[in-house]
Amino acid sequence: MTLTTVPQHLETEAEIISRLEDSPVLLDVRGLCVDYVTEAGNIRACDDVDLTLRRGEILGVAGESASGKSTLLNALGRLQRMPAATSAGEIRFHPTDGTEPVDLVGLTEDELAAYRWTKISVVMQSAMASLNPVIRLGEQFTDVIRTHNPRIRQAEARAQAAELLTMVGISADRLTAFPFQLSGGMQQRALIALSLACDPDLVLMDEPTTAVDVVMQRQILDQVLAAQERLGFAVVFVTHDLSLLLEISDRIAIMYGGKVVEVGTAARLHSTAKHPYTRALRNAFPPLSEPVRRLSGIPGSPPDLLDLPPGCSFAPRCAAAMPICHQRVPELRDIDQGRSACFLTNGELSEQELAVQQHPPLNGGHDEEGEAL
Ligand SMILES: Nc1ncnc2c1ncn2[C@@H]1O[C@H](COP(=O)(O)OP(=O)(O)OP(=O)(O)O)[C@@H](O)[C@H]1O
Ligand SMILES: [Mg+2]
Repeated sequence: MTLTTVPQHLETEAEIISRLEDSPVLLDVRGLCVDYVTEAGNIRACDDVDLTLRRGEILGVAGESASGKSTLLNALGRLQRMPAATSAGEIRFHPTDGTEPVDLVGLTEDELAAYRWTKISVVMQSAMASLNPVIRLGEQFTDVIRTHNPRIRQAEARAQAAELLTMVGISADRLTAFPFQLSGGMQQRALIALSLACDPDLVLMDEPTTAVDVVMQRQILDQVLAAQERLGFAVVFVTHDLSLLLEISDRIAIMYGGKVVEVGTAARLHSTAKHPYTRALRNAFPPLSEPVRRLSGIPGSPPDLLDLPPGCSFAPRCAAAMPICHQRVPELRDIDQGRSACFLTNGELSEQELAVQQHPPLNGGHDEEGEAL
């Protein structure tokens, strides 16, 4: 499968939903909060996040810089380090072997070792920071494979490594290379292949293609999708580039100021996003498949998490903001097969309340004597 021939967003919303509903839940995230405890104060970079991921699903997570994407991804993989700490919530992982679901938040480092690589693996933005520069590629693959499955013989592990590398378009003879002998794009692909070495159920990817050029990005995404189709793992794919996610994801979660503000299928977010921030992000990153048009940036800048505005944190930048948006935080509510945290669409206000908010009385809602109406 290639991006150019079968972009996933050509599937209708109903098709995506029905495919996902046929698949069991893999990860169920409830009320997840992550804080950075700093001298300047507590930064809640991941605020009450709820997400559900099905087996084999590609879930995109998009948002501007500092929206909390990496914080969320690191928390899902229990990779965060001080000063970050998960302060509330659950990350329920449902093993594909049918054993009882387990809350990853409560596991010790030793217990987590049974999940890393074999059930959950990670691909970060910088391959050179993840690959060991002084160990040949082949050895890095066979180490990972044999550590997690000691019964596999060296020759068999090497054959698996060769197959994985070939799957991402790298010749097997590069197994003898050191990482620095590969181009940046090849390193990134090698890291993706390595993440698949123990046949994980879930691969967490944080901006895996941001450091490579657009042509290489396409090749890598094609290979990730082909590998995903063949091996069936689920992916959480973090990037600021919503247009990229619209092409590869089943569902997308949009983050702003540490909160998830919209969740929907790629098909819906492509055509009728419910949240003004999603629409603004979409206009800032138009899909490559669409005719060239003027880009519109998002005015203003993301909120300071140490000094959040009252109400919806996007309200100060939102062209559609109503008085209530500056006073109350909208709830993330189920709406039309997705979720939205915007008073305009989440059903929190009645039609009448919405009409008053959108067209407030000119005298501020007071009668001629100054009494509130
Ligand atoms: N080590 C840290 N100490 C204190 N605050 C941090 C730390 N790491 C991240 N933050 C804060 O947490 C918030 C979210 O950061 P995060 O890296 O998760 O954002 P992001 O969406 O991944 O951004 P980017 O697109 O730039 O990678 C930001 O306000 C950031 O300043
Ligand atoms: Mg990040």
